[in-house]
Amino acid sequence: MKKRIYTATLLVALMAAWNGAHASPAAAKMCQGCHGQDGISTRDNVPSIAGISVGVHADYMYAYKEGARVCSDAKTKAMCTMTARLSDEQIEELAEYYAAMEYRPVEQAFDADKAAAGAAIHEAQCSKCHTDGGRNPDDEASILAGQPLAYLMTSLKQFAAEQREQPEAMQRRTAGLSEADIEALAHYYASQQ
Ligand code: HEC
Ligand code: HEC
Repeated sequence: MKKRIYTATLLVALMAAWNGAHASPAAAKMCQGCHGQDGISTRDNVPSIAGISVGVHADYMYAYKEGARVCSDAKTKAMCTMTARLSDEQIEELAEYYAAMEYRPVEQAFDADKAAAGAAIHEAQCSKCHTDGGRNPDDEASILAGQPLAYLMTSLKQFAAEQREQPEAMQRRTAGLSEADIEALAHYYASQQ
């Protein structure tokens, strides 16, 4: 019995890998200009999306589609207008396509003192859900380590101001973050390269 389950799991994993390597959904062409050819961001304000779990990626897309995430500047607005035109099927397909890609932290400058302060806050308040310094996609809580610094700052400010959906236990913690804490956390995640 155990063996059968194992074989089935292996088959599903192989199929996912095959799909990821070969079937590029047509809609992915719309993403590459901003999120990079391989899902790794080359722009300050744009997150990397390679390797984020299917469930989290799709949830984020639905959040933009439903207007539950901030759409204020030109680039962010693109996420909102674009997802509005995508079907649920396309969103799921894109989420699977990007989840199968390999994540790489962005190479960027950071302040070592701020990163050390951020590491301490992370350990005390965030590490329960964001394990391995925020680099584990199996947490089902996205990937924080190695995301662009400016994007991290924007997101953390939005969470602190309750402008973005988040688990209640995360909200209790982000609500108490000062500007300096937010900067420290962003430098900590950016420092992981
Ligand atoms: C014009 C540029 C642009 C295009 C095109 C674009 N994105 Fe984005 N995307 C962004 C920006 C900027 C953000 C961050 C916005 C914010 O701060 O909420 C983002 C955020 C995301 C997020 C949330 C990631 C996270 O960690 O929170 C996902 C998922 C995503 N995009 C997927 C896609 C997919 C899939 C496509 C193609 C169908 C796409 N994007 C096309 C600019 C773009
Ligand atoms: C109770 C578990 C939990 C705690 C505690 C928690 N988080 Fe999260 N976090 C999540 C989940 C789940 C998500 C992703 C899905 C969502 O938006 O609901 C997330 C998403 C994020 C994101 C967005 C990443 C992206 O791709 O845009 C950031 C940034 C973040 N968390 C930072 C923090 C920081 C900093 C702390 C500590 C001060 C923290 N979280 C504490 C569960 C948690």
